[in-house]
Amino acid sequence: MYDIPFLDLPPLDGASGTVRLPGSKSISNRVLLLAGLAEGTTAVHDLLDSDDTAVMLAALQQLGCTLRRDGAVLHLTGIAGRLQVHEAALFLGNAGTAMRPLAAALAVLATTQGGRFELSGVPRMHERPIADLVDALRPLGCAIDELGAPGYPPLRLHGVAGGQLATAQPIRVRGDVSSQFLTALLLALPLVAQDRDVVIEVQGELISKPYIDITLNLLARFGIAVRRDGWARFTMAQGSRYRSPGSIHVEGDASSASYFIAMGAIAAHGGAPLRIEGVGSDSIQGDIRFVEAAEAMGAQVRSGPGWLEVHRGRWPLAGITLDCNHIPDAAMTLAVMALYADTPTRLTGIASWRVKETDRIAAMAAELRRVGAQVVEGPDFIEVRAPTCWQAAAVHTYDDHRMAMCLSLAAFNPLAGAEPPVPVRILDPKCVAKTFPDYFEALFGVATASAEAVPVICIDGPTASGKGTLAARVADALGYHLLDSGALYRATGLAAQRHGITPEDESAVARVAQFLDLRFGHGPDGSRAWLRGEEVSAELRLESTGLLASRVSAIPAVRDALHGLQLSFRRAPGLVADGRDMGSVVFPGARLKIFLTASPAKRAERRHKQLISKGIPASIAVLRADLEARDARDANRPVAPCKPAEDALLIDNSELGIEESVELVLRHWQQRQPFAIPTAAPAASTPALLSTTPGKPGNT
Ligand code: DC
Repeated sequence: MYDIPFLDLPPLDGASGTVRLPGSKSISNRVLLLAGLAEGTTAVHDLLDSDDTAVMLAALQQLGCTLRRDGAVLHLTGIAGRLQVHEAALFLGNAGTAMRPLAAALAVLATTQGGRFELSGVPRMHERPIADLVDALRPLGCAIDELGAPGYPPLRLHGVAGGQLATAQPIRVRGDVSSQFLTALLLALPLVAQDRDVVIEVQGELISKPYIDITLNLLARFGIAVRRDGWARFTMAQGSRYRSPGSIHVEGDASSASYFIAMGAIAAHGGAPLRIEGVGSDSIQGDIRFVEAAEAMGAQVRSGPGWLEVHRGRWPLAGITLDCNHIPDAAMTLAVMALYADTPTRLTGIASWRVKETDRIAAMAAELRRVGAQVVEGPDFIEVRAPTCWQAAAVHTYDDHRMAMCLSLAAFNPLAGAEPPVPVRILDPKCVAKTFPDYFEALFGVATASAEAVPVICIDGPTASGKGTLAARVADALGYHLLDSGALYRATGLAAQRHGITPEDESAVARVAQFLDLRFGHGPDGSRAWLRGEEVSAELRLESTGLLASRVSAIPAVRDALHGLQLSFRRAPGLVADGRDMGSVVFPGARLKIFLTASPAKRAERRHKQLISKGIPASIAVLRADLEARDARDANRPVAPCKPAEDALLIDNSELGIEESVELVLRHWQQRQPFAIPTAAPAASTPALLSTTPGKPGNT
């Protein structure tokens, strides 16, 4: 996951391969609640691991459910409908799928069994309406205090043991703001349907019906049959009781699939499709119908149980006019596909967007305009025209995972003929953790970019100048890949030595370099490396290995052999490469080249400190003599001598701390970016005011 302030996506020009989707958020949290209320233990397979499920799990634990993880399987033992804990304060983040059903379940349990529960969330959660649910529960006899603004969380639910619920009359709930209120009641009321049938009546036109289907489907798996009369009346039979199904599988998230379905329609143009695993033709999720909408815009989709394969059909895509009531979340992805259509796209029936993680109509309009689209928005619709002139934009994500995932698709602008192709900066990329923590890794796993489009920062310099630490820190700050080219020479030296090959046998060493089986990874204490499967992290860092590397790196055939391997590190979203000749030879077109130096005295002192801290005895004088000898050899060898590239920026860090050096490099990098420095997010996450804002074309 990218826990950084922003992530720059380079212009992307294709997509193919396979993505495996994380579990569905809607199914995960419903299953968790049902398993938590049921009798017995449920083994939950392929549960989504995200912010929203984490808050639900934490809440269930507070309520006395027990959890046990066994690899990818979660074993959850429920409370069998009997409160184990009668007082708790539950923090539910921004998870509507936790807040609503827990509020309903705890309200009825507190009323009948006695208890006092406080439910709160992040500030945005306290702006998301819950009045319709409160209004449905109060006539039943539930005592509910709104602790903030009336009609919004936080809530206090309380009651004394032995209280009665007025379930003789049908329970009325509005269905036209959010279907989650009905879902909440459907999940909670079986708890109190022991003595008589319980009837729920929906008032107003029910929105997002497919989510109710998911709820009914999962209730059935937990032993609760609900009779449905149209979409207006739901009856839970007397004697209803949750029973764990023993084991349950969470299918992949169909809303998350929408980004990759769109990606296939836009970017899978090279013959191979984009394959999506985790959801397919057998899905119980309503958002699977996004496929039909994507097909109407041009996607070619094949599907089977648990999989989809998508490739580009019509190109450019065709704009559509669609009532999106049946696919409220995935519909956001259509608004972004509209960037690649030759006619406008108008999405209607999306008033519910205004009360989601943010006001999604306002947010989507503002951010699509930022990349150059023309957008008109209204209380319950959005109309999008593709950009005629693409803009490099830093897009705000409003702490809304779907905004981040949707807007990432704007990076495929080279395919729409953007001239020049533009990168897209995603602000606060970690917001995807709500439903898809590894979204960007999945994106980079299937998206392709031309080598020139992938930015490279070179940090060259002599031994012990601190370039390795600096490069790693800069790569971390930007979410870029890291190439420690010195490690390739070190590994070559080490591998040659293990084969009994001396540095004098140049062609033999070159062969070793050519077939170097080296793998890098990350551990808690920094980068790790494996040579032919054997960990060599510590050996690679030895001074003796450095000296060996200095010798083998002077062999032209070795440098040639490692050239291609070094180029292969240039992958989206970007690369920070450190070494001696990154800027001068390997990546001559790099956008930023740093040549880092420090006085020999300083470098010897730093190396000395480093070794002593690892308990390795060392003498400053010997270290200084060694590194001066290496400097001389690296600088005077005939091939790729260690010297600054012509356009490199010289930084002497003798007097700079690492933080200052990192900041300096990032400042230089920022100056080379087309984006404005991020400003505060626009105020689109205000409460659900259904205002009509006329569209303002152009870049805002
Ligand atoms: O940066 P380092 O100490 O890990 O590098 C080890 C040796 O490898 C160094 O003496 C010079 C050589 N090297 C090189 O010639 N070209 C590079 N790009 C990186 C390292």
